[in-house]
Amino acid sequence: MVAPSITLAMNSKALEQKAKGVDVFAFGVGEPDFEPPEAVREAAKRAIDAGCSKYTAVTGVPALKEAICDATERSRGWRPKNENVCVSVGAKHTLFNLALALYEPGDEVIIPKPYWVSYPEQVRIVGATPVLVDTREEDGWKLPPAALEKALTPKTKAVILCTPCNPTGLAYTEEETKALIDVVRKHDCWLIVDEIYAELIYEGLKFVSAAKIAPDLRDRMIVVDGVSKTYAMTGWRIGWALAPAPLVKALDVVQGQSTTNPTAVAQHAAIAALKGSPDDFARIRATFEKRRNAMVAGLTSIPGVKCRKPDGAFYAFADVRGLYGLDWNGKKVATDEDVAFWMLEKAHVAAVPGSGFGAPGYVRFSYAASEERIAAGCASIRAAAAAAR
Ligand SMILES: Cc1ncc(COP(=O)(O)O)c(C=O)c1O
Repeated sequence: MVAPSITLAMNSKALEQKAKGVDVFAFGVGEPDFEPPEAVREAAKRAIDAGCSKYTAVTGVPALKEAICDATERSRGWRPKNENVCVSVGAKHTLFNLALALYEPGDEVIIPKPYWVSYPEQVRIVGATPVLVDTREEDGWKLPPAALEKALTPKTKAVILCTPCNPTGLAYTEEETKALIDVVRKHDCWLIVDEIYAELIYEGLKFVSAAKIAPDLRDRMIVVDGVSKTYAMTGWRIGWALAPAPLVKALDVVQGQSTTNPTAVAQHAAIAALKGSPDDFARIRATFEKRRNAMVAGLTSIPGVKCRKPDGAFYAFADVRGLYGLDWNGKKVATDEDVAFWMLEKAHVAAVPGSGFGAPGYVRFSYAASEERIAAGCASIRAAAAAAR
């Protein structure tokens, strides 16, 4: 059975509370709390006035593909061609198109655990089998090459890696990515690398794109990216695959029979985002780094909560098992889901239980909120926990 997205379920519970007038600390949903750059909004207005209201090419307008290739070259040091780009209605749609285009019943798709909620469900929707490979917090949640090697079989159709990772915040170093690629190279399968959080990496860590590391594998590698996270454009719904040209043709067919093109005006807004100043990233990254530090400090100040410092993205993945046993209206908090719903009720903090990501015992806190809100939200959990002991 395909599971509904727990992130969205938690978000709708939080919205219910907000509608009742409760001031909810929104650490659940994975979206930046600021507006897209002004140039993006202006470009969208101009596109409307210029009559961009017709169908476009299914896989995106050439100017957007050009801007994507330029941005990839600038930020990742390798340049795809327009024929390698398929623009879709967000990166989630990109991944879904890939599932439809690539997987068949009987195929296995390797996904490290904890995983972003949609990866295994999209594999299941098309009748293929997700192979979930355990990772350990002691290893920084990183997939050991030996574990990948062990999981690969002749049935493996693809390996999905996410770096920086939602939900754990891990980011592979160049050497670590290379070691995983070396394993994949020996097997006949696709490598899908979700790089949607590539710009959000902290403490001087350097992001190196898998496609830059292994140009020889680009004929069976897909890089997934988009504007949602970097440019605070979640609602605009623009994401893309960078893939070998024959696969882009297959994605064109899949998308041509479903959504057709992503929204024309949003494509023009995305062009403006991609042409924006690199200073914007530096500012955004510095802001998120401070927020990360505030979230980790706040969470670890709660007796019973442990949290390692994430390397990238905007999530802290906290071990909340020390909160089990708290009193909750006469019963006991006993699971990570209990912790999440207890926090929402008693501390007005929305966050997502780890079970949804394949990691019971943990809760994911998004730190896409101001430092003040983060500190106040953590203080609220601390007070609720003290009252429930
Ligand atoms: C790892 C990862 N990939 C892809 C997406 C999808 O992004 P979008 O569909 O907004 O482009 C998300 C969003 O939460 C994500 O966290």
